[in-house]
Amino acid sequence: MDFQDVLRRRRMVRTFEPRPVDPEALERILWAAQRAPSAGYSQGYAFLVLDRPEDVERFWSAAAHGEDEWPGDGLRRAPVVILPVAGKHVYLNRYAEPDKGWSDRDEARWPVPYWTVDASFAAMLIQLAAIDQGLGALFFGLDAEGYGAVWEAFGVPGEWEPLGAIAIGHPATKDDVRSSAHSRPRKAAQEVAHRGRWHG
Ligand SMILES: Cc1cc2nc3c(=O)[nH]c(=O)nc-3n(C[C@H](O)[C@H](O)[C@H](O)COP(=O)(O)O)c2cc1C
Repeated sequence: MDFQDVLRRRRMVRTFEPRPVDPEALERILWAAQRAPSAGYSQGYAFLVLDRPEDVERFWSAAAHGEDEWPGDGLRRAPVVILPVAGKHVYLNRYAEPDKGWSDRDEARWPVPYWTVDASFAAMLIQLAAIDQGLGALFFGLDAEGYGAVWEAFGVPGEWEPLGAIAIGHPATKDDVRSSAHSRPRKAAQEVAHRGRWHG
């Protein structure tokens, strides 16, 4: 798919068909995730990939932890859920290597948490690759209890920090009226791009 078309189609999808995702499409999506850049080539991201129905079901049980309002059936039907996670420890270790030299592992050296930046880049690539494969995706968040329950259910070591989750599947509807994007306009380009200096 043309890159411009991928961008034009990039919209969060919240209602999926129960149809499974082609395993090869999932491999291509995971391939794309690893094309993300990373500071010092630390590659301090990882992905919990859930594509077996019993795992996806277990994910929702843990994520919702007894809430019955969420998620709706349309989201629950997504056959794949991927959780990108960020490993601060990987960066502290990588930057303590001789070519970087921050052997004190002082966290004050990090005004920006590159582990979150890099895992977020990977999360974006996952979403774009899903669209490129003719699929739809939703990036969504859990509450703290939900992350705790998911980490416990799938044995994710606590040093891997959550970013959110990405549901992937075949979109059931073209348009999703539950999106905030339906009630809020996209900002004008000049509101977000401060050219030359920060005006206003
Ligand atoms: C960090 C982040 C968290 C989000 N969390 C949720 C969420 O929990 N539930 C949800 O339905 N959408 C969630 N969204 C999707 C946003 O609502 C959506 O991106 C925004 O309304 C713009 O719509 P669009 O992505 O379809 O253009 C999240 C998006 C981001 C980037």
